[in-house]
Amino acid sequence: MEVTWKPALPKSEKPLYLALVRALSRDIESGRLPKGFRLPTQRELADYLKIAVGTVTRAYDEAERKGLVYGDGRRGTFVGELPSPKSSLASLAKAVTLGIDFRQNHPAHRLDPDLGAALRQIAQRPECRDLLLYAPPAGLMSHRLAGAKWMDSLGLTADPENVFVCGGAQHALLTICAAEARAGDIIACEEYAYPGVKTVADILGLQQVGVAIDENGLIPESFEEVCRNKAIRLLYCNPSLQNPTNYVMPTQRRRQIAAIADKYHVCVIEDEILAPLLDDRPGFISSLIPDRSYFVLSSSKSVAAGLRVGFIAAPPQARQSLTDTLQGSMLGMPPLMGEIFSLWLNDGTIEKTIAARKLESAWAQQTAGEILGRFTIRTHPTGYHVWLLLPEPWTGPEFATEAQMRGVAVAPAEIFAVDRKSAVNGVRLSLGAVPAREHVTAGLKIIADILSGSPRHDTVRV
Ligand SMILES: Cc1ncc(COP(=O)(O)O)c(C=O)c1O
Repeated sequence: MEVTWKPALPKSEKPLYLALVRALSRDIESGRLPKGFRLPTQRELADYLKIAVGTVTRAYDEAERKGLVYGDGRRGTFVGELPSPKSSLASLAKAVTLGIDFRQNHPAHRLDPDLGAALRQIAQRPECRDLLLYAPPAGLMSHRLAGAKWMDSLGLTADPENVFVCGGAQHALLTICAAEARAGDIIACEEYAYPGVKTVADILGLQQVGVAIDENGLIPESFEEVCRNKAIRLLYCNPSLQNPTNYVMPTQRRRQIAAIADKYHVCVIEDEILAPLLDDRPGFISSLIPDRSYFVLSSSKSVAAGLRVGFIAAPPQARQSLTDTLQGSMLGMPPLMGEIFSLWLNDGTIEKTIAARKLESAWAQQTAGEILGRFTIRTHPTGYHVWLLLPEPWTGPEFATEAQMRGVAVAPAEIFAVDRKSAVNGVRLSLGAVPAREHVTAGLKIIADILSGSPRHDTVRV
């Protein structure tokens, strides 16, 4: 019998099982393999590709873990309906045609600083034209100094020589992983993680492993167990106002995580994108193990989403490889962005913007507490999200569909779960993207209303 799926599998791509997962993902994305398509059995595919059955088993397992396919007992393996990790970011960014968007994680646009005033000020400077020259791959030194100054104000001392300018935190993650890891390497991260790290792992062919979390973030015992059992190359964590669960990892926990990373030679990526919004900042992991950690900051959440300026404080020995990777990915950051950031840092605009954002968050989080307080939620006075654990019998995708039908977009836990099969029944509500406070209140009331009822029997999965 002819095999029903004939993937193109360049044997030079290693490891083979991940190459097969990529081929599967590509064919799903291109529409060649539609939802519900029954894949060949493992034996059929192995025979067709002339590879070991074990390789196909591993590939199908990995694809299932990523939500690309699902096994249905003896009936076989089918193309699944959950978005792939690669499309996790895309599904979050999907244009929302609804009135109330709690799906996208944006800071409130109405509080963005006055861009026109900044541009006029920069335009008057005699050296303004120099901003049209290429910047060095690590960024202009004046911008690296601004990055180091911002880090210092948050409690991290970094030598400006080790500070790199990039195009936001997502670019930082891709660049660091590309500089530090090779296809097949393992990256550990919180069991519910910012979806952009899944996208990076997918692009670079890294394997992702989830580490259990509690209300204080990564659980040290779980991290140690993962390190004992697997050759972990990188740990990605987002310890301050974690996306999506809102936790803040206390200093003691950070010390434990740093000690384990040190013991097992794991390189840590500490994504501190929301740290500027915290009032009481714990000590950073990167201060404890500067030789094996990358500290990541970005202007996107605390200043403005379109100001694409990220900063990386790198281990001194990684300077050259990071410079080379930045050069390969960008040549050099557009200097105008860093110039606007530096101006705003030095004239106090950033401090004022952050203060305004914190006030807005405090209002939104308090409102969420008032409207959803009788349900299981995790809020934080200066956080952007509400992590909502759903009462029985809701699942995240069903709830998201119901909310969408009522005009509110939310993000189901599956988008963040490293292991989708065991995702909790939950959703993330991001309260920053809506245009006005009335929308926040109205959206939260709709959520409360749905929670007070039960799923309609005719809801479809997203
Ligand atoms: C935890 C986290 N890290 C990184 C990013 C990406 O940030 P940027 O817009 O600076 O690329 C986001 C965006 O949502 C995020 O939530």
